[in-house]
Amino acid sequence: MKLNKYFVIDFDSTFTKVEAFDVLADISLSDHPEREARKAQIVQITNQGMDGSISFRESLEKRLNLLAPNKKHLPFLITKLKGSVSESFKRNKEFFQLHADNIYIISNGFKEFIEPIVTEFGVKPENILANEFRFDDTGKVIGFDQDNPLSANGGKVEQLKKLNLPGDIYVIGDGYTDYEIKHAGLANKFFAFTENVERENIKSKADHITPSLDEFLYLNKLNTVISYPKNRINVLLLENVHPVAVALLKAEGFNVETYHAALTEDELCEKIKNVSVLGIRSKTQVTAKVLENANRLMAIGAFCIGTNQIDLKTATKKGIAVFNAPFSNTRSVVELAIAEMILLMRNIVDKSVKMHKGVWDKSAKGSFEVRGKKLGLVGYGNIGTQLSVIAESLGMKVLYYDVEERLSLGNAVKCKSLKEVLEQADVISLHVDGRASNANLIGAKEFSLMKKGVIFINLSRGHIVDIQALRENILSGKVAGCAIDVFPQEPVSNDDEFVSDLRGLPNTILTPHIGGSTSEAQENIGNYVPGKIMDYINTGSTSNSVSFPNITLPILENAHRLIHIHNNVPGILAKINQVLAENGINIVGQYLKTNESIGYVITDINKQYDKEVIAKLKAIEDTIKFRVLY
Ligand code: NAI
Repeated sequence: MKLNKYFVIDFDSTFTKVEAFDVLADISLSDHPEREARKAQIVQITNQGMDGSISFRESLEKRLNLLAPNKKHLPFLITKLKGSVSESFKRNKEFFQLHADNIYIISNGFKEFIEPIVTEFGVKPENILANEFRFDDTGKVIGFDQDNPLSANGGKVEQLKKLNLPGDIYVIGDGYTDYEIKHAGLANKFFAFTENVERENIKSKADHITPSLDEFLYLNKLNTVISYPKNRINVLLLENVHPVAVALLKAEGFNVETYHAALTEDELCEKIKNVSVLGIRSKTQVTAKVLENANRLMAIGAFCIGTNQIDLKTATKKGIAVFNAPFSNTRSVVELAIAEMILLMRNIVDKSVKMHKGVWDKSAKGSFEVRGKKLGLVGYGNIGTQLSVIAESLGMKVLYYDVEERLSLGNAVKCKSLKEVLEQADVISLHVDGRASNANLIGAKEFSLMKKGVIFINLSRGHIVDIQALRENILSGKVAGCAIDVFPQEPVSNDDEFVSDLRGLPNTILTPHIGGSTSEAQENIGNYVPGKIMDYINTGSTSNSVSFPNITLPILENAHRLIHIHNNVPGILAKINQVLAENGINIVGQYLKTNESIGYVITDINKQYDKEVIAKLKAIEDTIKFRVLY
């Protein structure tokens, strides 16, 4: 493809993530006694040269003196630099190959280490403008080519003058010397490249700030490998989402904004207009009104387990994929359940309370091991099954009841009814979900079925247990100990009093809904949810989405992927395929899944096609959202 544009690209901190001299310092000074001091000085001098506060030649001479480089260091330096090419440059190798005639690398660094890196991308050796070392017989660097304009102040400007390129010139770089080319009138535009370093004084002088090469290519309509630059995707993370999530989403290149608290409905209605991905925890209410304003929203990440705070029906209808973290705190709940059953079996709570009052009650009465006891699990989902495995390893016999058909793990025995579990178990632990029909699942009648002296644990949902019935059974001694973490009415904040008829009862552990609250769980959530969101954005996969039909898709290779979300009405797939057939498009793979309100069709097609087909697909009646992935 012939272009009448020239791209002049800086090397250090632009083509590569690093400054080559910093890397060289690690190598050439590795055994030097003043290594750290010299390295610090070099960084300082580099920055002074970049921000224009000292002359370039002065900076170069000073740095070479401190570095004392030698020919033998170069192979190590080159290997390191090859591993440090900027991510967006690696992705866009095709750009360098397609436009090799129009791409120049300009650097005040040295050809000896730049050439091996950039020619691998297809840059022509004659288009590399950089200094050259002078060596002595022993290979020691004794200086540089003094005739090369790049070894002097204003060198990049001089080089560009000499080149006299016959077309528009776009300069991409992160430093002052790159901006100088534009300033001298030798470039049409200067693009401040901020993927690796951001310098405010350079950003303020730029025609465009490009957080990656993707953005540069997108702006200049030269993109071939990605459909849309990630930095244009706005991510809003509320409620102090875990830093690991913020870091993951930033590393992916998204434009991430964070806020420590939840937003009100009105605030969110305003803020959501420019947002493509919203991350919340349990406090932010994503109502129908919020979603009405969310015209760019593609996905919501609930950095928690529950999704009651989100109007899922409306989200689905608007083609917004919602992800949560259903198993991230499973283990935390299980560990607490295990700890509590052991403490309760040993009557530790009462003993500890007495000790604090000065009572020494040393006796084995009413104290038992959990080994050999029967654990009855009600609900055999994520938590129930995990608890089953760990309880068995402690020597417990596990019985369970679940309304769904579930695979028994280890030696766990499936029961046909709730009654069967309640009648046999020494310890009963509830792990059912919060569906409305589970209200008062355990009441007076169910307690009457249990063995005398049973240990009772509820870490699932508050409304599942009739609290009055539990209170009576504790007071009567039928329940020998209980641990309750969830309540029908829970205080809204830590400032409100906890009111419950369970307060003050013997051998009763009460905890403030912290079954899943551990640092590990928070970190797991922080890792899990961004993974799901990135998968959805990058591949269209919706596995474990709570609002979308679940499809796990292969990674896209050598094809374009058309993602079509539509109202679930008959005939849409046929219409999509009709449009594709009429336009002679070859389908490489196709996937369809529906739920009761929407259909999700993914079609992978050969890369060469008439782009008009996109408009036709968008125009199909009942289309909710459409996007293309390269
Ligand atoms: P899950 O959805 O994987 O498992 C729930 C299981 O209960 C399912 O297998 C379901 O078929 C079964 N079930 C529902 N109703 C039933 C009934 N009436 N009788 C028998 N089985 C029934 O859920 P997961 O992840 O295991 O969580 C279980 C509970 O723990 C949920 O209510 C969840 O909200 C709660 N939870 C509490 C936490 C805390 O901080 N205390 C933290 C995490 C979860």
